[in-house]
Amino acid sequence: FYRFEMKFTTLLFPAVVLGAACPYGTFKPEEPTDIRGVCPMLNALANHGFLPRDGKNINENQTVNALNSALNLTPDFGRFLFTAGRLSNPKPNATTFDLNHLDRHGLFEHDGSLSRQDAYFGQWSRFNQTVWNWTKQYYHGDTLDVQMVANSRAQRHMRSNLTNPEYGLTEVGYQFSVAENSALLSIIGDKVTQTCPLKYVDYLFVNERLPYEVGWKKPEVPIELQDLIKTFRKIANASLQGYEQYLYKQSPLELALTATA
Ligand code: HEM
Ligand code: MG
Repeated sequence: FYRFEMKFTTLLFPAVVLGAACPYGTFKPEEPTDIRGVCPMLNALANHGFLPRDGKNINENQTVNALNSALNLTPDFGRFLFTAGRLSNPKPNATTFDLNHLDRHGLFEHDGSLSRQDAYFGQWSRFNQTVWNWTKQYYHGDTLDVQMVANSRAQRHMRSNLTNPEYGLTEVGYQFSVAENSALLSIIGDKVTQTCPLKYVDYLFVNERLPYEVGWKKPEVPIELQDLIKTFRKIANASLQGYEQYLYKQSPLELALTATA
């Protein structure tokens, strides 16, 4: 018994304590030589070491494993998302991507982002507090829901359309824009209720860190592409209404006069 106790304290106990202290990929802010890009979630996964910390040469297995172990996305969903990464690589037939390949303006990256300014105005791939504050003005209360993200998304595109002479949104850009807003609710939040605590999203965007500290946990039930699509449809439907509500609250003229980019 004594020997067992010795073993426990000398071997097992430190392991248990360490395990409790680091139950997930350790967060380490990016180094100046690390590559990051437009996607706040992929940046966060690299900062936790779920993806290569240097943000370079990310292959399909690494993406699928990262999205599965950090966020509980199904492997099919992970492979689907990886396609966008791979296609962003300027090298034809590439099997990997770097996080800044996603910045290519007009491919998947689009105007009217929630936390990034439009390429027309300057640096467009990294977090911008002013833009994020505009977005948050439409997030009322502690919990984001479908109508709220639809309204805020409409606001960003409206504002860009009014202030950016080169504003444009391709069909693919539109799909991404709605999908990213769906991801807030169905991946970071709760895919069943299609809501998300604002503090999770704010923490993620500002710190590029998974919001464990503010109570977020990896979802217990796997998340499929179909879950994202369900929320996508709701947001798309709520968007016309959001656009109108936006018009009533603040007329385009008023916005054009007050908007600064
Ligand atoms: C933004 C790609 C995974 C959430 C973006 C953008 C790209 C991108 C190209 C820029 C769009 C823009 O705002 O102009 C990818 C790829 C992924 C991936 C290739 C996987 C391989 C995820 C996951 C989430 C996510 C799993 C889950 C929450 C977001 C959000 C934005 C975004 C919320 C919008 C940022 C903003 O509007 O400021 N992603 N993404 N992404 N991504 Fe990802
Ligand atoms: Mg953008």
